[in-house]
Amino acid sequence: MENDIQQILLTQAQIENRIRELGQVLTEEYRDKDPVIVGVLKGVVVFYADMVRHIQVPCQMDFMWLSSYAGTDSTGTMKVRQDLTTDIKGRHVLILEDIFDTGNSLNFTVEHLKSREPASLKICTLLDKPERRKAGITLKADYVGFTIPNAFVVGYGLDYNEKYRNLPYIGILKPEVYDKF
Ligand code: IMP
Ligand code: MG
Repeated sequence: MENDIQQILLTQAQIENRIRELGQVLTEEYRDKDPVIVGVLKGVVVFYADMVRHIQVPCQMDFMWLSSYAGTDSTGTMKVRQDLTTDIKGRHVLILEDIFDTGNSLNFTVEHLKSREPASLKICTLLDKPERRKAGITLKADYVGFTIPNAFVVGYGLDYNEKYRNLPYIGILKPEVYDKF
């Protein structure tokens, strides 16, 4: 698995430090707000587990599962595979995402959740790839872990064809790996 990585973009230590910093900001933001922290499956699971432990306020956890990516190309069509189990009307909602890429999935998630009239709705994404944003998407993340260049990355929850999610760092795959699967 490690042999398939061409370059480590973000080390475990870099990710940990950034999450600690974001945790301080989010702890202040959500003090006394009893937020619902929404994770968008599956890519977010590793980030989610680390991030929530640094948001040191009472909160509720919930998850949504959207239709996913095939390979490195977004299909653009989104569907809710599994919805929240919490009623978020009047609640403070924080969306955690692994990566803000074309913006299709975050845009869809935001519209989906907004229709339920939360008291507030904010986005925290570990990675932001602004160069990939689809024309017409004006949505901005409220909190960004790292802004990264336009490369396909894996690890720390992110996959290529469902592999590499359990790498503890974020890396770029060797080009020959794409032909292997
Ligand atoms: P979107 O293009 O912003 O809708 O991103 C949708 C989803 O595509 C993300 O939640 C990731 O699961 C996946 N994705 C986008 N870019 C990458 C990448 O560089 N590596 C792995 N998955 C990615
Ligand atoms: Mg994802």
